[in-house]
Parts: sequence; C-alpha cells; structure tokens
Amino acid sequence: MAKIDFGGVLEEVVTREEFSLSRAREVLKNERIAVLGYGVQGPGQALNLKDNGFEVIIGQRPEEPVYWNKAIQDGFEPGKTLFPIEEAARQATIIQYLLSDAGQVATWDKVKACLNKGDALYFSHGFSIVYKEQTGVVPPEDVDVILVAPKGSGRTVRTNFLDGSGINSSFAVFQDATGRARERTLALGIAIGSGYLFETTFQNEVFSDLTGERGVLMGCLAGMMEAQYNTLRRNGHSPSEAFNETVEELTQSLIRLVAENGMDWMFANCSTTAQRGALDWAPRFRDAVLPVFEELYASVIKGSETRRVLEANSAEDYREKLDKELTAMRESEMWRAGAAVRALRPENRK
Ligand SMILES: NC(=O)c1ccc[n+]([C@@H]2O[C@H](COP(=O)([O-])OP(=O)(O)OC[C@H]3O[C@@H](n4cnc5c(N)ncnc54)[C@H](OP(=O)(O)O)[C@@H]3O)[C@@H](O)[C@H]2O)c1
Repeated sequence: MAKIDFGGVLEEVVTREEFSLSRAREVLKNERIAVLGYGVQGPGQALNLKDNGFEVIIGQRPEEPVYWNKAIQDGFEPGKTLFPIEEAARQATIIQYLLSDAGQVATWDKVKACLNKGDALYFSHGFSIVYKEQTGVVPPEDVDVILVAPKGSGRTVRTNFLDGSGINSSFAVFQDATGRARERTLALGIAIGSGYLFETTFQNEVFSDLTGERGVLMGCLAGMMEAQYNTLRRNGHSPSEAFNETVEELTQSLIRLVAENGMDWMFANCSTTAQRGALDWAPRFRDAVLPVFEELYASVIKGSETRRVLEANSAEDYREKLDKELTAMRESEMWRAGAAVRALRPENRK
C-alpha cells in the first residue's frame, strides 16, 4: 500500500500498480460473481467486471420489467447470465448485494438462505450491516462480509471505466471467514474499475456517506441555494439575476476551479472584491451551519436517518411521493428560472 500525506495525516491507499488487474484475475479465477440488482450501481459494476474478463451473472426480479429488460439490452441472457435474485445468489461464490438499501431488507431472508460456507457477501454501502437492528441483516459466520463503495454514481463507475480513468472507492472487511476476505475485497475493487482504494470500516463508510449526502453534497447545497435565491428575490432582484448569482455561476465556473486546484485557487482567480467578501463571510457561514451539522451527525449515529429511509422507501407509494416532491422542486420559480437560464448558455445557442 502507498502511504499518502493527506493534509499532514498519513493514510494508506491501494493503487492499481500494487494490486494489478492480473493479480485480481488470479485471486478471483475460481469465483462466480452474482450482481444482485440492476439499478444504478448494478450495471456499472457488472459491465466493468464483464469487460475485465470476470465471470459475472445478474440477479434481478423479472416481474419488474424495467431493470430486467435493461440487463437484457446490456447483453445479459436470461437463463445463462441473467436470473431471478435467489437463483443468481445460489449459483455464485461472490454475492454483490446491489439492491437499494430498502430492497436489501426486503430480500434478506431469501438471499441469506442462498449463501454457502466460504461465499463472500459484498456491499457498496455499510447501511444494512451497521444498522442491523433495523435491517435484520446479520450474515452467517461462515461467509466473508466485505465492502467496496465507489465514490460516485454507478453511471460514473461505468463512464470512467470506459474512458480509462477509473473511479475512487473505499473498501472494508467486516467479517473474514475464509482468511481471504481482504484479497477478495481488493481484487473486486480493482475488478469493478476502481482507480484508488481507500481503507475504511463499514461504520465509517455509512456514517460519512449519510452525513455527506444530507449535508454539503445535496441537502445543505439545495437548502443554502434556496435561502440565497429567496433573499435576492425578496429584495427585488429578477429571477434570472437571482439564479445566475446563486447557481449558474457556481456550476458553470467557480466549482470547476475548486475541482481543478482547490478553494484558495478559485479565490485567487476571482476579483479582489469577491475575495475580500468571501474570506470575511466564510467563517460566519461555517459557524452558522455547524450546529446543524452536529445535529445531522448525531441523527445519523442514532439511526434516525436510516429509520426514516427504510420507512419512506419501503412504502407502497414511495415512487409517487418522490415524484411529487421532485416535481414541486422542478416547478418552483427558482428551478424554472434555472431551466430558462440553462437554455441560454452560450453552448446551447443554435
Ligand atoms: N446510486 C449510487 O450511485 C450508489 C453509489 C455508491 C453506493 N451505492 C450503494 O449501492 C447499492 C445499490 O444502490 P443503487 O443506487 O444502485 O440502487 P437502486 O438503483 O435503487 O437499485 C434498485 C435495485 O434494487 C431492486 N429492488 C429494490 N427493491 C427491491 C425489492 N423489494 N425486491 C427486489 N429487488 C428490489 C431494483 O429492482 P426492481 O426494479 O425490481 O425494484 C433494482 O435492481 C446500495 O447499497 C447503495 O447505497 C449506490
């Protein structure tokens, strides 16, 4: 493992140089891998495994045709490489549990019954294992329980693989029944197309992931944008002006600079007027939202977030309710203004 200095803290990272694809092929040469679930992560990981030469089959319920048909379109054949969930789980030695987290809870008893001694049960999220009191997912002691969690959408897992770059993932071993759990995990990490592999635990993965998506990555981002947009609108600014100053300039310019070279570089490449104000106001915002982040993290640890997810996402009318919420967002003035602003991007000029 390479030791890398992250802001003064040394961490170990596994690279493709140390753990090559050919080593992964050697480690997994006698394994049959079942990817259960063909939603978002399922296709990305399964297609990368297949293209990398691993033996992979899909487990997906046929009675819900959308993802079953998607697997067929992607080249998996019913009865040969595409099966109902339990059948795929029974045939495999590595079971990649890539149903939605609520779907894992719903199918666990059936999947558990398909596990054989020495199998590896693989997750891309610590959710089911860490919150076992809520999910009931307690694997038998004679299987490996491992995790590789790509740090991005399943779509990026695939597109980065196709452009040759790979995606970064975290990995963890929760239970090592065979003595091979770690090498199986690293081999799978490389096999699904990871570029770098960062070691974690199931617990740290799920705590940080749930916090991140509720926080800066999605929840906080959406709330903060709305607050600024509304402030500008209440003070008489037009929708286009409020949207441009809140979202468009961020997504089209500034955040790209942050991605390239960090926050200081973005600040350094803005006007001195912008710099001064941003430097003065950043600590005010940090201190204002800190208590909300503390509350969020506590809610994650307590299991309140997962309880809410399981309740909401296993409801019969889950998709309808979700659609309603997303439609309300899309049809709000702010995001309708956004659609109009996006259409006016210079690259969209006919
Ligand atoms: N989305 C991401 O980018 C991402 C990133 C990192 C990690 N992860 C993790 O990867 C795992 C898979 O996530 P995902 O986003 O790919 O999930 P998803 O797109 O929501 O996948 C849904 C899959 O689960 C199946 N499913 C749901 N409920 C079911 C049930 N009751 N019975 C049988 N099948 C059911 C769906 O099939 P049907 O059509 O039959 O319902 C579909 O195949 C999760 O642990 C997630 O936390 C996801």
